[in-house]
Amino acid sequence: MAMKIPTAVLLLLLVPCLHGAYAVYPPNPFTSIFSFGNSYADTGNFVRLAAPLVPFIPLNNLPYGETFFGHPTGRASNGRLILDFIADAFGLPFLPPTLAREQDFSKGANFAVTGGTALDLSYFLENNITSVPPFNSSLNVQLQWFEQLKPTLCNSTTTPHGSCANDCFARSLFFMGEFGGNDYVFFLAANKTVEETRAYVPAVVNAIAVGVERLIWHGAKRIVVPGNLPNGCIPIMLTLYASPHSSDYDHYGCLKNLNRLARHHNDLLRRQIRALQRKYPYTRIAYADYYRPVLSFLQTPGLYGFDGDSTLVACCGAGGGKYNYNVMAPCGVPGATACTDPSRAVNWDGIHLTEAAYRKIAEGWLHGPFAQPPILSLAF
Ligand SMILES: *[C@@H]1O[C@H](CO)[C@@H](O)[C@H](O)[C@H]1NC(C)=O
Ligand SMILES: *[C@@H]1O[C@H](CO)[C@@H](O)[C@H](O)[C@H]1NC(C)=O
Ligand SMILES: *[C@@H]1O[C@H](CO)[C@@H](O)[C@H](O)[C@H]1NC(C)=O
Ligand SMILES: *[C@@H]1O[C@H](CO)[C@@H](O)[C@H](O)[C@H]1NC(C)=O
Repeated sequence: MAMKIPTAVLLLLLVPCLHGAYAVYPPNPFTSIFSFGNSYADTGNFVRLAAPLVPFIPLNNLPYGETFFGHPTGRASNGRLILDFIADAFGLPFLPPTLAREQDFSKGANFAVTGGTALDLSYFLENNITSVPPFNSSLNVQLQWFEQLKPTLCNSTTTPHGSCANDCFARSLFFMGEFGGNDYVFFLAANKTVEETRAYVPAVVNAIAVGVERLIWHGAKRIVVPGNLPNGCIPIMLTLYASPHSSDYDHYGCLKNLNRLARHHNDLLRRQIRALQRKYPYTRIAYADYYRPVLSFLQTPGLYGFDGDSTLVACCGAGGGKYNYNVMAPCGVPGATACTDPSRAVNWDGIHLTEAAYRKIAEGWLHGPFAQPPILSLAF
């Protein structure tokens, strides 16, 4: 009897080669994680860039790292970041910073740099914005690093399930962001008003969408795109842009106009993600929300194990007003100390969050409700 393969079976055999969506995954669905972003994701790139040039880098000192690692690692927190918890959930090692040479990048690589922006350095300079990040480390530069490293990350002719060209990232998880928060910080630092800064949101969001599309062209199949935090609730912004008018603050003590700016960014970003998802149906793109979880920590701190009296106060600092934040004496300088129980604090150093807050956000991104769709659902 001649073997006849029904058309449906042929299609099933062919379809995984087109997009990998029907592959049967082993218990650990992802083989590697790649990340782009800024200090919310940096696991050690900035300190390596800055070390030869800057005599003193606050985040390279204790109490940074004290809670989990026992020493500073270049992460802007007391312990692990969201990305660390997510790598752990998938049985993967913490992502090595790509600027740490002689690392094994076969299970992931982190291109994120503290200060990283969505827009290129040249964009700021052309717009006469001179308050810019210390390093040329924008999203595009990080993508260039990725493209240079790609031959060592990816053997496009051999994959776990056959030999599909350009399928080498079929089981990789990508994080594009958070980006944008720093862009707005630099526009504001150049004395643009919040309203003037709002005019740049489409350019910022477009740069992120173009970056996501570039990853898709490289074969990315699972991409997580985080939005902005409620920047009006962050101690550094509450300190720098303090207002004498109580009407400028919301019920939780956050600056309304900065939160409106973040929400506008997030609205446009979600719209762009929906458009990309329609354009590339075989790639799955998740929006990961920083805004709602951070606001929830302020609204119902007890529910998350946080101390309700200090949700807007930096845990680590050298004193400095209502928010324990002093630009001239931040966490990491001699004399700065951490609060007694960082596990009950939301904010670590006036800008970044504590490990406890990152853990809660990671759980909400993995399982829902803080990512659409939840990252775990991208695995299947
Ligand atoms: C930043 O680096 C990229 C290459 O990675 C280069 O093309 C660009 O000109 C640099 N920008 C500035 C302003 O130095
Ligand atoms: C930047 O400043 C220069 C010199 O003051 C001016 O000629 C140029 O128009 C400015 N560009 C923008 C985009 O504002
Ligand atoms: C790709 O193949 C080369 C040569 O066989 C090998 O050295 C490298 O480790 C492989 N890379 C990955 C990510 O598997
Ligand atoms: C912004 O305004 C402040 C106060 O007027 C001034 O001291 C500072 O130089 C300005 N900064 C820039 C980048 O224009």
